[in-house]
Amino acid sequence: MSTSPLHAVAHLLDTSARICVLTGAGVSAESGVATFRDPDGLWARFSPYELASMDGFLANPDRVRDWYNYRRAIINSVEPNAGHVAIAKLEKMFGASFTLATQNVDRLHQRAGSIRVLEVHGNIHENRCNGCHGVRSDDELTCPSCSGSMRPNVVWFGEDLPEDVFAAAEEAARTCDVMLVIGTSADVWPAAGLPYTAKMAGAQIVEINPNQTSLTPHVHHVLSGTSAVILPQILEAMT
Ligand code: OAD
Repeated sequence: MSTSPLHAVAHLLDTSARICVLTGAGVSAESGVATFRDPDGLWARFSPYELASMDGFLANPDRVRDWYNYRRAIINSVEPNAGHVAIAKLEKMFGASFTLATQNVDRLHQRAGSIRVLEVHGNIHENRCNGCHGVRSDDELTCPSCSGSMRPNVVWFGEDLPEDVFAAAEEAARTCDVMLVIGTSADVWPAAGLPYTAKMAGAQIVEINPNQTSLTPHVHHVLSGTSAVILPQILEAMT
């Protein structure tokens, strides 16, 4: 009797102790949030240099802030989908042996019930001071503490990831038995390195994505489909 790839992954989760999940923009696609590198993605319509780099911000802070406000409005108007909910359920099942690292800045994982979320690219709902690095959740343009310029609290191209957060994600990658890589093109480093770290440490790597990525040839299991469809099916197939 042959087992379907989905049942093989469900069995893998049933028989594993430590689970790490890495998510990207694809997880929020079925909520109505655009991805970046798909044909209709944000980087096909907007310039990452102008809108996601310090040079772009310094050249035109108002344009950058307007764009992030436009994205915040979209995110605030949508709901988490069944994929987010399934990931939150996995956290409940595995408890402290479960780690979610996300490249997403939209906080839809938290709204779906995920509690411990390693936001390796920051989050769009806060702003951070260019001068003292203080983080605020209001929309002040100038830092009340040091008069520095406030900018979205996300990681831009050329910037370092939040050190502690990424170190925790790397530790989870090094120590997990299974890593689920969901809805990411796996093109943006260093986050894209996490599956390779996990694989080198002996973990089984599962990719869930409707499309092939540069990671696909390196994973043990490929589930070709969208996260809001595949993830609930995996949970359903688990015992
Ligand atoms: P990308 O836009 O690069 O990749 C999105 C991936 O999601 C693609 O591989 C799609 O095939 C897949 N996808 C699309 N719809 C899906 C669905 N319904 N279910 C599952 N997968 C689906 O997004 P990321 O990999 O997240 O940086 O991009 C990484 C970083 O690049 C982002 O964090 C962002 C961007 O610049 C910051 O915001 C700092």
